[in-house]
Amino acid sequence: MTPPHLQIALDGPAGSGKTTVARRLAERLALLYLDTGAMYRALAVLSLRERVDADNEPALLRLLEARPIEIRLEPGAPMGFVVLAGGEVLSESELQANAASVVVSTIAAHPRIRERMVAKQREIARLGPVIMAGRDIGTVVLPDAQLKIFLTASISARVARRKAQFAASGTAIDAHALFSELEERDRLDESRSNSPLQISPDAHVIDSSELGVDEVVSKIAALARAVA
Ligand code: DC
Repeated sequence: MTPPHLQIALDGPAGSGKTTVARRLAERLALLYLDTGAMYRALAVLSLRERVDADNEPALLRLLEARPIEIRLEPGAPMGFVVLAGGEVLSESELQANAASVVVSTIAAHPRIRERMVAKQREIARLGPVIMAGRDIGTVVLPDAQLKIFLTASISARVARRKAQFAASGTAIDAHALFSELEERDRLDESRSNSPLQISPDAHVIDSSELGVDEVVSKIAALARAVA
């Protein structure tokens, strides 16, 4: 069923440039914007604080009950939206910290955790024309989205981008460690039995290895004009 307003699903592996591209498109096309990875990261942050094992789904579910994760869409906020856990705002640096990156894929593989996150993501998509970035947006969260993009890039391009992001925030990080982390996350995200990262058959695949952000944004904006 065609959604009542434009939905753009933007999926792809870590470091493919989804969040930068999605935010620019949201500005350009006046869309709501959510990076769904931040919701899984929020639970990762809580699990680290409360020392809950990333493999322990029942304990993670209890944590989620006790400290519900909510999203406030605020285009002016540092990430473009605000993530709250039990009413407390979580900072971008805490969400993006390496400690959270290391456990988040394990946490995101739990089916009942995903059910809860997906329900919230669909609620947000009902609010208005939207671009949502993640891993399963075109396949599971918004299967009727009018436009689905799978953004990919070579692992070396993705490592270089992540390194530059860390450098911009004043954190030095070893490229070899980043390479292994991204490889491991790709492996976990692609191999999990529940909603793995996969290309929806109706998605447009864009390889951003050799493209600048503006080029990717223009390509997707043109595709969006064609479906609007
Ligand atoms: O995009 P990111 O690196 O912030 O995502 C963090 C993790 O969350 C990633 O390892 C996969 C998972 N994720 C997911 O399973 N489904 C989504 N829709 C978004 C992220």
